[in-house]
Amino acid sequence: MKIGIIGAGNIGGNLTRRFRGLGHTVFVANSRGPESLADLAAETGATPVSVTEAARSGDVVIVTIPEKNIPDLPRELFAGVSDSVVVVDTGNYYPQQRDGRIAGIEDGMVESRWVSQQLGRPVVKAFNNIYAEHLLKLGKPAGSPGRIALPVAGDDERAKSVVLKLVDELGFDAVDAGGLDDSWRQQPATPVYAADFDAEGVRRALASASKDRRPEWRAKSGAGAV
Ligand SMILES: NC(=O)c1ccc[n+]([C@@H]2O[C@H](COP(=O)([O-])OP(=O)(O)OC[C@H]3O[C@@H](n4cnc5c(N)ncnc54)[C@H](OP(=O)(O)O)[C@@H]3O)[C@@H](O)[C@H]2O)c1
Repeated sequence: MKIGIIGAGNIGGNLTRRFRGLGHTVFVANSRGPESLADLAAETGATPVSVTEAARSGDVVIVTIPEKNIPDLPRELFAGVSDSVVVVDTGNYYPQQRDGRIAGIEDGMVESRWVSQQLGRPVVKAFNNIYAEHLLKLGKPAGSPGRIALPVAGDDERAKSVVLKLVDELGFDAVDAGGLDDSWRQQPATPVYAADFDAEGVRRALASASKDRRPEWRAKSGAGAV
């Protein structure tokens, strides 16, 4: 597959490593431009590109940058990109540690619904609840005891099935976590977040999640607005 990755940090870098290891063609971008990705390119064989090129290069495009930077992406990033291209959001909202106040989310919008609105595209939410290092190192063949499972949420069943398959290829059981409006069940502070459960554990954790956003996962009053 051709995979575009926007963001080359902890998650984007490790997804580049893993997808290249599986033989996929990867186009990777960051905020500083392709020259700054020479080391990652040399290590993995991925092609460094601009953000706009990454959005136009994949059958799947993974957006994996801090939530607060989503509005900085080029306007019309996906204009003209075929509807068949699957866009994946790995993001999490960290208002107190990193992102400041994002009004839409504070007002109750599901995090990935806000990202989808900003991008002007449907997204599939995946890879947001596992540590980057575990994504790199803890994948196992299908059927292995204790294989970690990852929830995948999205409204388009075809797009979701593409991502469910990629999750399995990476060495994780893939659990259909419902539509995008259900994806609060895998946001930070929920039972499934960074828990490394197996498939049964993921299903149980999603079912037992509570929708309340606790104060420590809300922006402090006066924090910068996005
Ligand atoms: N770290 C984890 O274990 C983990 C796990 C699951 C989910 N997540 C979530 O996944 C997202 C990415 O996390 P991360 O830890 O990989 O972040 P990170 O290590 O801080 O890397 C962020 C990447 O995004 C790029 N970037 C920032 N603004 C950009 C812009 N406007 N245009 C293009 N690229 C931009 C940065 O490029 P430059 O370096 O050039 O600025 C950098 O490559 C976050 O929402 C995070 O909460 C993280």
